[in-house]
Amino acid sequence: MDRQPGVSVRVKLTLSYAGFLMLAGALLMGAVWVFLLRYVPNRAMLYNPDDRPSGGVFPIRSALLHVFAPRAAAVLAFLLVFGLVGGWILAGRMLAPLTHITDATRMATNGSLSHRIRLPGRGDEFRELADAFDIMLERLEAHVAEQQRFAANASHELRTPLAITQALLDVARNDPHRDIDELVERLRVVNARAIDLTEALLMLSRADKRAFTREPVDLSLLAEEAAETLLPLAEKRGVAIDTSGDIATASGSPALLLQMTTNLVHNAIVHNLPERGSVWVRTGVRSGSTVLTVENSGEKLSPELVSPLTEPFQRGTERIHNDYAGVGLGLAIVQRIVHVHDGSLTLTPRAGGGLRIAVQLPAAAAHSAK
Ligand SMILES: Nc1ncnc2c1ncn2[C@@H]1O[C@H](COP(=O)(O)OP(=O)(O)O)[C@@H](O)[C@H]1O
Ligand SMILES: [Mg+2]
Repeated sequence: MDRQPGVSVRVKLTLSYAGFLMLAGALLMGAVWVFLLRYVPNRAMLYNPDDRPSGGVFPIRSALLHVFAPRAAAVLAFLLVFGLVGGWILAGRMLAPLTHITDATRMATNGSLSHRIRLPGRGDEFRELADAFDIMLERLEAHVAEQQRFAANASHELRTPLAITQALLDVARNDPHRDIDELVERLRVVNARAIDLTEALLMLSRADKRAFTREPVDLSLLAEEAAETLLPLAEKRGVAIDTSGDIATASGSPALLLQMTTNLVHNAIVHNLPERGSVWVRTGVRSGSTVLTVENSGEKLSPELVSPLTEPFQRGTERIHNDYAGVGLGLAIVQRIVHVHDGSLTLTPRAGGGLRIAVQLPAAAAHSAK
């Protein structure tokens, strides 16, 4: 914003200090004058040295005014100078922290988010502002770093299928007798993977707080729908899905919440035991929240291993002995969808192996449930 240049706060503070000091001085002088008037008679008889009245009168008050007025003026002049100089110094000292804060803001504007103000001293309003500013810078820096990491990871992941395609094409060109059908099939698989990845990235960027309208959604219906859609995959992998629970109405986007449920059930199927795995999907309402839990049997997981899984492109280690190669965005998408619905996501390793994922969303008002 372009502003007209104005009077600096330091000048304003100095003028107010000096002004108040002058006002107080003037009041004090006035009080002294009133006090003097009270106790000093208007006129006095002049006495001779032998204590007999000489007959003359002397106007004390006007004489007093002659003595008092210049002294009072001198005091006020001194107070004015004192107020201006003292006020200037004091205001400078008081406002010094602002300079640090302004400098830090300028640096942040120029892109240096690593700078911190770190004002020394005990807490006061300026220190509070500086601390709040430091916290904001810290958050901003972490956020930007996360975005950069995400962009780097996404580019890396997107490059992989392209590089594989390139390699396949190079091999085919150098060997004209190669089986074309096999090449086409492998290219199709690699391409499908690139599409999956791109779609997941699009999904992640679209799950925005403002980008959807909220309506009542029954999670138990979504759970059934997801289980039904994924039943062929579950059968292929020998996993049994058990879906049960009460009506659990949340308010949100049906499409996003279905995506969330599908991702969770999909994960529960593919990251399960190699055979005879189980998946339990439960819905319900608990203390004012709508809850969806997806639990599955599987490998034993440690709590340290589980917490970073919701970060983009984080994958577990079990892929080595599992033919499933996901893009590593499933849980990141779930996390984002839960976040834009003001809910919370909890991952807990199960004692017997496998994972339990609980989604808690604010329950929709009961009367609007359909
Ligand atoms: N239900 C689950 N049981 C066990 N591990 C899981 C489960 N869901 C996710 N994971 C682990 O979290 C990782 C990240 O999951 P996700 O973000 O969906 O990526 P992807 O499934 O593409 O690998 C998976 O690679 C897997 O190791
Ligand atoms: Mg997944």
